[in-house]
Amino acid sequence: MHSTKHPQVAVIGMGFIGLPLSLSYAMKGANVFGIDVLPHLVEEINEGKSHHLEYYQGKSLSEILKEQLQAGRFQATIDYAEAAKEVDTYIITVGIPVVQGDPNLSYLTSACEQLAKVLKKGDTVILRSTVVPGTTEDIVLPLLEKSGLKAGTDFYLAYSSERIAEGKAFEEFIHMPLALGGVNEASAKRAKEILSFVTEAEITISEIKIVETAKVIENIQRDVNIAMVQQFARFSERMGMDTFELIKVANTHKRVNLLVPGPGVGGYCLPNALYYLLPKARELDVNIEMLEIARKINDSVPSILVDMVEKELVQQGRTLMGSQVAVLGLAMKDFSNDDRISPAHHVVEILLQRGATVKAYDPAVPSSYPYKVGSLEEAVTGSAVLIYLNAQEEFLEIDWNQVLHLMTDSPILLDAKHRIPSRISNQAKLVRI
Ligand SMILES: NC(=O)c1ccc[n+]([C@@H]2O[C@H](COP(=O)([O-])OP(=O)(O)OC[C@H]3O[C@@H](n4cnc5c(N)ncnc54)[C@H](O)[C@@H]3O)[C@@H](O)[C@H]2O)c1
Repeated sequence: MHSTKHPQVAVIGMGFIGLPLSLSYAMKGANVFGIDVLPHLVEEINEGKSHHLEYYQGKSLSEILKEQLQAGRFQATIDYAEAAKEVDTYIITVGIPVVQGDPNLSYLTSACEQLAKVLKKGDTVILRSTVVPGTTEDIVLPLLEKSGLKAGTDFYLAYSSERIAEGKAFEEFIHMPLALGGVNEASAKRAKEILSFVTEAEITISEIKIVETAKVIENIQRDVNIAMVQQFARFSERMGMDTFELIKVANTHKRVNLLVPGPGVGGYCLPNALYYLLPKARELDVNIEMLEIARKINDSVPSILVDMVEKELVQQGRTLMGSQVAVLGLAMKDFSNDDRISPAHHVVEILLQRGATVKAYDPAVPSSYPYKVGSLEEAVTGSAVLIYLNAQEEFLEIDWNQVLHLMTDSPILLDAKHRIPSRISNQAKLVRI
């Protein structure tokens, strides 16, 4: 049963993490079930379809998925019991969304309740979701013990944070060092064997609550770094300096590692991290004010960007009211299809509130929105303003002369990513952050 050569694994949650993680196990020869609650998602995956922009060794995730489905090493299901007949290892990757500042644990608790019904003696459960510190031992453990089995004795239970970046998932599942904590030594040992089936990187073993908290503060330090850089950007703008050049120069110092400013901070990981720490900090009466301020600064960037655009329009005797604005990029970061908690939506919301007509274009984001259009041409034709928020492959090929030709006279271009060539500034107003 405990051969690590070909583990029988069920990955719970078929999202940005769970699907490529399942395929990483399958590519190594494991038999893998992918469990999700969404029947349409399970159906799509079993048909070999996915819109995730992940690649490995020249193959797209969909190609890898089709290969593993055909090889019979991977299948998706909504049925925990079906998977339980074949597997002895569960890796939980369901998310904990933050709703109005509060982490919603219901996906995780529901996954644990369903798992408890099928858990067998000798099974291993590894939680890989990013969690409120204490979740594995205080919430997951008692829910799984509803199975009648005892954690650490009858089944193994461990927590190992997931650190990959979307777009580099396959590579980072192998090469990103991991941290791991088990409810006892045997659980940590067993979980390490399972993780090592895919990872070749170092695995640091520590206490569960330390690994849970480390993950949250790893994300928060990026959030704070970006908030700090946003303030440097505002200073640099007033000084008439190029912020990206300023950061590049500062980063030549060996002990400085500033991130770059952008349209704000989006995605599932960084904006949520503070809200995983906050409930515990409040419970323990710990002041984390600086981290809260950083979050507020990052949340305020979309309105700063819209103000910058409006200021330029006013100088030309116009306002956003009645102006058409093209927004390029809805994803939460460059070359991503993930637009969860994306600052781009916040930018659009503010533009709409101020009376602008918005035509947003992002070829990688699959979701539909009333303001989303189907082509770059459609977005820019007749627009007075263009706001470049995130890069996609297609945007690297943009013919900027053609774009300016399609926009109205005296166009304003706001570049949040330093990707619009400076040479256009003699034909349009180019504003950079
Ligand atoms: N996306 C990232 O880049 C990233 C990086 C590191 C860590 N993480 C963490 O990994 C976790 C997963 O993130 P994600 O981006 O893959 O989320 P996701 O929303 O893309 O995927 C989660 C999936 O779980 C499914 N699900 C919900 N309840 C379920 C249940 N009871 N049983 C089975 N499936 C269920 C959902 O339908 C969804 O498909 C989160 O905790 C996140 O913070 C994400």
